[in-house]
Amino acid sequence: MMHDAADDLLSDLAGLFAGEADPIANAANAAAAIWQHVPRINWAGFYFLKDGELVLGPFQGKPACVRIALGRGVCGTAAARRETLVVADVHAFPGHIACDGASNSEIVVPLLRDGALLGVLDIDSPELARFGAAERVLFEAAARAWTDSLGG
Ligand code: SME
Repeated sequence: MMHDAADDLLSDLAGLFAGEADPIANAANAAAAIWQHVPRINWAGFYFLKDGELVLGPFQGKPACVRIALGRGVCGTAAARRETLVVADVHAFPGHIACDGASNSEIVVPLLRDGALLGVLDIDSPELARFGAAERVLFEAAARAWTDSLGG
């Protein structure tokens, strides 16, 4: 990822979130900003934890599966482990949920606030191994910007 694109995304998020604490509005703008700034992706969006499962939130890309059980697929596994998962080839990931057959690699970052799991930020790419250390840092910062935007 170009350093500039990362800086642009994070500064856009800071501007978009300034003075606004609505979780849906800020997630919608975050998905749109990621879509705008990050090249070679085919899905970017949020799942929120509701009644013990992940439920689809704001996103960009093709329509996606609405409900994902904790522990299932890449999203459910990242949520259950509460850690970022970077998957170079989703087809090799046990239980991967193929929402868009074009997806080949994926990064999922848990959304954590005061130790509570709120959901995940999920980005997919049609390229194998699209996401590495730089993207992990970037999307973890984007996820933190969103959780911080919710206020105290
Ligand atoms: N592939 C994900 C499902 C969500 S979609 O990619 C948007 C998974 O295995 O969790």
